[in-house]
Amino acid sequence: MKKRKVLATILGSCMVLSLAACGGGTATTSTPPAPTGSAVVEGIESQVPAGGTVGVCIYKFDDNFMTTYRTALETILKDKGYEVTVVDGNNDQAKQTEQINTFIAQGVDALIINPVMTSAASSIVNLVQTADIPTVFINREPTAEDMASYNKCVYVGCDAAQSGTFQGELILETETKGDINGDGKVSYIMIQGDPENIDAKLRTEYSVKALTDAGMEVEQLNLTRGDWDQNKGQEICANDLAQFGDKVEVVFSNNDSMALGAMEAIKTAGRTVGKDIYIVGVDALDAALDAVKAGEMTGTVLNDAQSQAEKAVECMEGLLGGTTYAEGEQSIYVDYVKVTSDNVAEFIK
Ligand code: BGC
Repeated sequence: MKKRKVLATILGSCMVLSLAACGGGTATTSTPPAPTGSAVVEGIESQVPAGGTVGVCIYKFDDNFMTTYRTALETILKDKGYEVTVVDGNNDQAKQTEQINTFIAQGVDALIINPVMTSAASSIVNLVQTADIPTVFINREPTAEDMASYNKCVYVGCDAAQSGTFQGELILETETKGDINGDGKVSYIMIQGDPENIDAKLRTEYSVKALTDAGMEVEQLNLTRGDWDQNKGQEICANDLAQFGDKVEVVFSNNDSMALGAMEAIKTAGRTVGKDIYIVGVDALDAALDAVKAGEMTGTVLNDAQSQAEKAVECMEGLLGGTTYAEGEQSIYVDYVKVTSDNVAEFIK
């Protein structure tokens, strides 16, 4: 408790600028700035290093995008002097809940949580609220209602609808607008992530909506759950190509991992991206950027792990400095960016 008080006081001094950036006018702060580098705790003035303890819960380590994300997060937190523990939930909500309870028992100063199941968010909020531990949710957005009861929790991520819209636009920007065979409709297969996750739901919906909003007729040949997994993406696409053959004009994949798998299936089936089929993903994983550059993927959408990690830490520091979030204003978004062969060079590291 004492430790948390020290941390809040110190951070209050350095967070004034970042508060404005994180959540704009939605956040309020109650901690006045303190003199830099020193903290007054119960009458004792002491020089204490900035930093504190942070528990980071990742839904599972075996996920390409979340690996990039957690590496960025860990680096930023460590560089800022925090003591960080990152744990693997193994895609098991019961296990993650146990990990959260352990962090709470250890008295961490703040938590950053990538929930296994967004449906568990309300019980997670109850736990962190009871322990009064500032919490930043990442990557899997809880509902506004779930977060409303605790004003020291916030979600940092992206607006999943935007990534879906961008995927649809990538198809609309091709020469044939997705109607390669000229039969007046865009025939597609959808490879979906874990449908419990809002990213999967909204990308599925909005990618197609962008086409229909633009006046295109669409035909869904198949929609299959691939759980964000590359091998499943390959298997699903191989099956669909075997079943529907040349009818498949567009492969929508909710993420790049599954798209990279699908890309292999496309090659094996002897199809040529850009000529007789299009394929789009989301994330801008390194391998997907290479594929876009080589013309093996039509495009992808940058899911900016670095910016999200920076924003998540900024919001965590804001919370530690006394920021609170009003009901309905607890989601902070970072923009997605469309990536095609035209601009891919800007994203390749
Ligand atoms: C990413 C996926 C990732 C998932 C994990 C999504 O935003 O696009 O690649 O598997 O998050 O929750």
